[in-house]
Amino acid sequence: MSHNTAVIQTDITRAAINKNIYGHFAEHLGRGIYEGIWVGKDSDIPNTGGIRTDVASALKKLQIPVLRWPGGCFADEYHWANGVGKRKTMLNTHWGGTIDSNEFGTHEFMMLCELLGCEPYIAGNVGSGTVKEMADWIEYMTFEAGTPMSDWRKENGREKPWKLKYFGIGNENWGCGGNMHPEYYADLYRNFQTYVRNYSGNEIYKIAGGANVDDYRWTETLMKKAADLMDGLSLHYYTIPGDFWKGKGSATEFTEDEWFITMKKAAHMDELITRHSAIMDQYDPEKRVGLIIDEWGTWLDPEPGTNPGFLYQQNTIRDALVAATHFHIFHQHADRVQMANIAQTVNVLQAMILTEGKQMLLTPTYHVFDMFKVHHDASLLASETKAAGYEWKDGRLPQVSISASKQQNGDIHISICNIDHLQKADVKIELRGMKKTGKPSGTILHAEKMNARNTFSSPENVKPKPFSGFTQKGGNLEAELPPMAVVLITLPADPS
Ligand code: AHR
Repeated sequence: MSHNTAVIQTDITRAAINKNIYGHFAEHLGRGIYEGIWVGKDSDIPNTGGIRTDVASALKKLQIPVLRWPGGCFADEYHWANGVGKRKTMLNTHWGGTIDSNEFGTHEFMMLCELLGCEPYIAGNVGSGTVKEMADWIEYMTFEAGTPMSDWRKENGREKPWKLKYFGIGNENWGCGGNMHPEYYADLYRNFQTYVRNYSGNEIYKIAGGANVDDYRWTETLMKKAADLMDGLSLHYYTIPGDFWKGKGSATEFTEDEWFITMKKAAHMDELITRHSAIMDQYDPEKRVGLIIDEWGTWLDPEPGTNPGFLYQQNTIRDALVAATHFHIFHQHADRVQMANIAQTVNVLQAMILTEGKQMLLTPTYHVFDMFKVHHDASLLASETKAAGYEWKDGRLPQVSISASKQQNGDIHISICNIDHLQKADVKIELRGMKKTGKPSGTILHAEKMNARNTFSSPENVKPKPFSGFTQKGGNLEAELPPMAVVLITLPADPS
């Protein structure tokens, strides 16, 4: 058993945790959109206007704040006009060379967002598109009436303009989005974003395509040349235990070494945010421009027997711990990180949901999103953790991470994550300034085996359970976490 201590200042709040850090990303990739979300009206899978009812209701429960679409790499080859009215097919060059029917287009995506009650975040095409094409899309979606684009939207069945809050100007323009240099992209960004106009009362939050991992020069250049015209700048970082090209590592058959390295790589997100933020601070000390981590999560070898271009991977308790670790890091950087979008929602990479025909299952990652939704828009409480070491061979990581937030009604939520695959964690927390509370409660997501997961034959193998392994007396909270566990403790505001 390892001993960890922490102090939480229950009466000192830091920045608000923007609920958008619990955002999602769904790309035209493999079975992510088609099959996973969209089955069409004539499908025998129950659907609402073509959208799977089971998937939509599971996602709605997560209170997804924002959904990014249509890519990814796909975005810079997507020509939106082929996906409205009479559809034209397109070749999905990036992901398996499949032919996309374009049955799922702007109207269907907006319908999905309405169904989920989330904000749309659309990524526009800079790599192979034109300024006019992007301007037309904005006009199509958001202009009231009387122009060619708004009239076309009406002809296609949508009378009123949509509300559009977030728009990305390209994606990974250093790579699949055009192989550009940062100086060139910065100029293109300035140009394209000019024509992303605000119509019908929209105030579009414009997101510039950002750096890959530790490309600090990209961030520096974008901030220097275009910060005045952007609201957000993106950053992409995936947790890959192995090597991107030579083998990322199995999603289910991994060793203890791979567990440790996965946790280490997930924790690296902290350094990346710190360093990118420090550059942003030089150009934007008021922290107006948000760091938008619009792709993150585990990227592992595809499930054997599946199309490697479809990026379909299983999801274990290891993925759940990666997700919880990321959220704790994002919380710590709540003053700069305004949004994050896990890749990806259904059937792709670190998914919330897997489907097989009519069947659907919730992954361990889904459950972390569900448990942590209490942190949405809550105020981060100041805290400090002295973690014991999670030691493996010659490596050492903090065994636990802890994050606490307070909701407007005074309820306090403390999430604790024990990434150690062998040792229990004993956690003693001093709740400074704690007043009387209502009856506390706890929830735990945990598994005995490193690769525990949900399957279609055993869909509830890993799921949250009530947690009673803690005591709270006034300002003292003590908990004992098993290895590989995510715990959420709720201290309700005093009801009296
Ligand atoms: O999420 C899969 C891919 O990863 C995205 O399409 C791309 O932006 C990134 O390289």
